[in-house]
Amino acid sequence: MARRRFLSGIVVLAAAAGGAFWLLTAPTSLPTGALGPHTANLDNGKTMFNIGGCASCHATEVAEPKAEDRLKLGGGHALKTPFGTFLAPNISTDPKAGIGAWSEFDFVNAMVRGVGRRGEHLYPSFPYTSYQRMPLADVRDLWAFLNTLPAVDRPNEPHQLGFPFNFRRGLGLWKLLHLDGKAFEPSPDRSAQLNRGAYLVEGPGHCAECHSPRGLSGGIDPGRRFAGGPDPSGKGFVPNITPHADGMAKWSDRDIAYLLETGQTPDGDSVGGTMADVTVNTGNLSAQDRNAMAAYLKALPARSCKAAK
Ligand code: HEC
Ligand code: HEC
Repeated sequence: MARRRFLSGIVVLAAAAGGAFWLLTAPTSLPTGALGPHTANLDNGKTMFNIGGCASCHATEVAEPKAEDRLKLGGGHALKTPFGTFLAPNISTDPKAGIGAWSEFDFVNAMVRGVGRRGEHLYPSFPYTSYQRMPLADVRDLWAFLNTLPAVDRPNEPHQLGFPFNFRRGLGLWKLLHLDGKAFEPSPDRSAQLNRGAYLVEGPGHCAECHSPRGLSGGIDPGRRFAGGPDPSGKGFVPNITPHADGMAKWSDRDIAYLLETGQTPDGDSVGGTMADVTVNTGNLSAQDRNAMAAYLKALPARSCKAAK
């Protein structure tokens, strides 16, 4: 009798835990009606496309890329991570192969909630942890800009992930830890230039996603944000971009802005790896925006990537 009660107790507990897991991990979309009237600004949409680096992951790689190839978002770029390899999907205007049949609401949910069109969780290899900082108006301008780009008929390939990472629902737990759903708030203590730089770097620019070490659960370590860390691809190290002696203490604002424009460091080297693509993107921004980002990086607290003592 006691044993049966015990067993049924376990069944009830397991069902409750399963139910709690199911509730806690439910993808949360924006409320319907979150999008009021909006007149799209295509210039701003283009700025968001460039700072957002969408081409770095979603443009289909070709042997000898020309400028217009950055706008052909057929996907296919492989992102190696400790969890497996992600293959960036087609986000071109093709209605079948891409996202041409998506609504604006579907797109905004993907960008700021990490929720896909079928209501599923998206993997944070798509850096929505940063894109969630974008005000909806900027996301909507980006959507309008993407809609001006060509359709690319290239089918998606499945990601190569092992268990349990191939189980999207489990991402709900990760999101509870690492996604706060807050848009960027300008600080009244900062100049307009610093606020602009902070927004571009922390939001669409998603610079911290590569330039910070991560904890065990895969979230950015807040005490070492921008202090560099192992390259997420598993090869090499991403440099410290705070004004610490281990980082960019010796760089002037102009050096940083120049790097973001041309990809050239003050020593006359050019940056390589994934940063080469980033500088192609930032090279397409206005000088004013690059200067704002440089000013913000110079104003960051100096942090070391070595473990805090
Ligand atoms: C670091 C690489 C990376 C960058 C940068 C990136 N994405 Fe993605 N994106 C991905 C990956 C990987 C996925 C697939 C996620 C998944 O399957 O859950 C994805 C998924 C998406 C999706 C959902 C597509 C679908 O079919 O479900 C949209 C929409 C999207 N990205 C738009 C963008 C836009 C717009 C930008 C620029 C602001 C951008 N992405 C920048 C890697 C990236
Ligand atoms: C996809 C990963 C990735 C993203 C996103 C990224 N970076 Fe980088 N960054 C790198 C890597 C890797 C290097 C080192 C390149 C090299 O050594 O050739 C680097 C180098 C740099 C450097 C030169 C530092 C030095 O000491 O040489 C600066 C400055 C920089 N990044 C700023 C930024 C800013 C600002 C952003 C956001 C707009 C950004 N990065 C986004 C990966 C990234």
